[in-house]
Amino acid sequence: MDLFRIEGGRPLSGTVKAAGAKNAVLPILTAALLTEEPLEVQNAPGLADVDTLLNLLRELGCEAERSEGGRVHIQSAKQPHYRAGWEQVRRMRGSFCVLGPLLARTGRAEVSLPGGCVFGVRPIDVHLKGLEALGAKVAIEHGFVMAEAPPGGLVGAEVFLGTAFGSSVTGTMNVMMAATLARGQTIIQGAACEPEVEDLGKCLIAMGAKISGLGSPRLIIDGVDSLSGATHSVLPDRIEAGTYLLAGALTGGQVRVDNCPSEHLSALFDRMWQAGLPFERGEDWAETLPCGLGARPRPTDVTTQPHPGFPTDLQAQWMALMVLADGVSVITERIYPDRYMHVAELLRMGARIRRQGTASVVEGVPNLSGAPVTASDLRASAALVLAGLVAKGQTEVHRVYHIDRGYEGIEKRLQSLGARIERVRS
Ligand code: EPU
Repeated sequence: MDLFRIEGGRPLSGTVKAAGAKNAVLPILTAALLTEEPLEVQNAPGLADVDTLLNLLRELGCEAERSEGGRVHIQSAKQPHYRAGWEQVRRMRGSFCVLGPLLARTGRAEVSLPGGCVFGVRPIDVHLKGLEALGAKVAIEHGFVMAEAPPGGLVGAEVFLGTAFGSSVTGTMNVMMAATLARGQTIIQGAACEPEVEDLGKCLIAMGAKISGLGSPRLIIDGVDSLSGATHSVLPDRIEAGTYLLAGALTGGQVRVDNCPSEHLSALFDRMWQAGLPFERGEDWAETLPCGLGARPRPTDVTTQPHPGFPTDLQAQWMALMVLADGVSVITERIYPDRYMHVAELLRMGARIRRQGTASVVEGVPNLSGAPVTASDLRASAALVLAGLVAKGQTEVHRVYHIDRGYEGIEKRLQSLGARIERVRS
């Protein structure tokens, strides 16, 4: 398994361009199952997760071709297979988004319970509740969700998709996709408002779906008989952009992110401002301003929340910054209470962090020291790479396949910003 070897202690400087959003491209590709016409997806990031999903879609009978420049051409069979097996679905959560489209198009779906990043229980009850509201019979048997539409197909209904921890992003996506081909009107209350849900909705509208309320917690979907092909360009990845900005801020360097979806990063900018980190931003770019390696940020609390709150997918990276802050900060995880796999590894590098229930109390230290650490999930791995960039001496981040799932060529991009990071293949 590959590892990253990092020599810390260099301010980063230069420009990177944010790629297409992982959490938008995955469901968008599954939307190809809703039609027999071709779907042309542009700005698809070159990620391991995209390859995994394309393999799954091929197994379901789609033709999928990926070409240079982030283009994916995908066309579903007239009669797609309806069983999505463990081998592909276990690798990532996004693949569970085949459930809604398969059920709507073929009347039947058998989809393995999903895998993906492991940071506590990740239920799917909301997905199933939504599909049941549209008339599907759903059961879990031998590790598979077995779903069947009523004779005549799914029927529109009103359904509430909120959970105790906010709305479900992929749950909203699954139900929204299924509803596009249901008979009559579906109203989703408590819909997730994440930009990736909106981007999927725009793609579905380009395919002929009738959806209103995108970006709000109330979606109205009027079912249509069939959907057509379309061309859709995936929105830029706010989490990737935020990760590079935090790499710039952490090293006191000047990192500009082009193609940055600034309007989707308000909560991060708010916290950066509070922490005294100098930066500038425009509509589609943002840049950290140099303040020198070793300039310590102000301790700044963060509570993760559904969009537009501070994203859980940037919590670990924020912690990598706060471990060097000039005082004590509290990070509270309101989406995934146990998403703290990075804490034990940051402690190995000299950080001082105490877990208290769903919160972590972070006492800033003047320096981190390089150490061998193990990546355990995608964003935790990103945090460890960021910490390695400022630690004294050498850090080895093991099991970096997690990071390849969500960051296209991260070591090359960081090298282009002046970081001393290399991939050691094994
Ligand atoms: N939840 C339920 N029941 C459900 C579904 C979710 O109670 O049926 C709860 C979860 O336990 C969690 C909250 O609702 O507390 C939100 O979970 P959600 O369903 O929104 O998560 P997801 O759709 O499985 C997506 C992203 C995650 C991101 C979350 C939250 C994809 C493929 N994954 O997951 O991305 O953290 O939304 O924004 O879109 C990542 O990119 O690193 C990543 C993990």
